[in-house]
Amino acid sequence: MSWAYTASQRSGEHSVRTVHTALDSGASLLDTADMYGPFTNELLVGRVLKERRADAFVSTKCGLLVGEQHIVANGRPGYVKRACDASLRRLQTDVIDLYQLHRADPEVPIEETWGAMAELVAAGKVRALGLCAVGARAQRRTGARMHDATVRQLERVQQVFPVSCVQAELSVWSPDALEALVPWCASRGVGFLAAMPLGNGFLSGTLTPGQGFEPDDMRARHPRFTAEMMAANQPIVAGLRRVARRHGDGVTPAQVALAWLLAQGPHVVPVPGTKRERWAAENCAAADLPLSHEDLAEIAELPPARGSWD
Ligand SMILES: NC(=O)c1ccc[n+]([C@@H]2O[C@H](COP(=O)([O-])OP(=O)(O)OC[C@H]3O[C@@H](n4cnc5c(N)ncnc54)[C@H](OP(=O)(O)O)[C@@H]3O)[C@@H](O)[C@H]2O)c1
Repeated sequence: MSWAYTASQRSGEHSVRTVHTALDSGASLLDTADMYGPFTNELLVGRVLKERRADAFVSTKCGLLVGEQHIVANGRPGYVKRACDASLRRLQTDVIDLYQLHRADPEVPIEETWGAMAELVAAGKVRALGLCAVGARAQRRTGARMHDATVRQLERVQQVFPVSCVQAELSVWSPDALEALVPWCASRGVGFLAAMPLGNGFLSGTLTPGQGFEPDDMRARHPRFTAEMMAANQPIVAGLRRVARRHGDGVTPAQVALAWLLAQGPHVVPVPGTKRERWAAENCAAADLPLSHEDLAEIAELPPARGSWD
């Protein structure tokens, strides 16, 4: 709605309606961040929360600052506390259900950042804490090793205050988190938010190889969205489409991709992003799509995705 995808397609009014539609369709978690926009996505979510706070569990993130040229991490305790107050104002609420550290600041020991976040819980401004591990482009290069590093970070912050939730990329074409992070969460009763669950739209099967993206759309620079890699990865979409067909007319590859995530454990919650009411409703309906052992086995046999940041 506010970040990473073509700006000319954004509409505040439509986005607000889309959030209402998601809540009306059974979604209860709204995941945002102060850096989305920056700030505009929290403002949109705030317009909805003002009217129906009780219908939503709201999670937001701090720790990344959007500058003219670069995005930089800021994990200084004073900054984190100011960022929380600003998010509360934009979200038009007096408490954030889940407050997540978007990225650790390499200049600040993570225990210090996490300690400040714990003080926000003590102050009643935040109910629970989460850590994001989704890599920026540079982090992606390390692949699964990035998740091992995240587990080490998690063990460190757990000494300070309990982690309630971990957020990282997880989808049919990016399953690395299943190796370490998702089991780590399961064994400790920690929730897992699956970011980019539709592979930035690719897994929905609605994109065409070579269609091109506007320069401000992150997919214009994403190695999996070149015409060549989108063509090479079509067998993944074809597999999701085969499974969808078995479940009847109207079931979509996007819904299968989300149902696959829901099948990874009761603690795994996908957070699909869309600015369209129709897709918000479609994505919510995936919660009622139980995949069989045969479906899951077929998806497990799909070829690994091609195209990486390396
Ligand atoms: N912690 C982190 O660092 C981090 C990083 C990335 C993402 N996230 C979280 O993950 C969420 C989702 O990420 P995302 O939106 O980038 O990726 P995504 O959910 O994998 O994909 C979004 C894309 O899929 C399209 N789409 C959505 N539903 C569809 C459907 N049913 N059929 C066809 N296309 C559909 C959207 O189109 P339209 O936009 O045209 O509707 C959009 O282009 C974010 O909102 C955020 O909460 C977190």
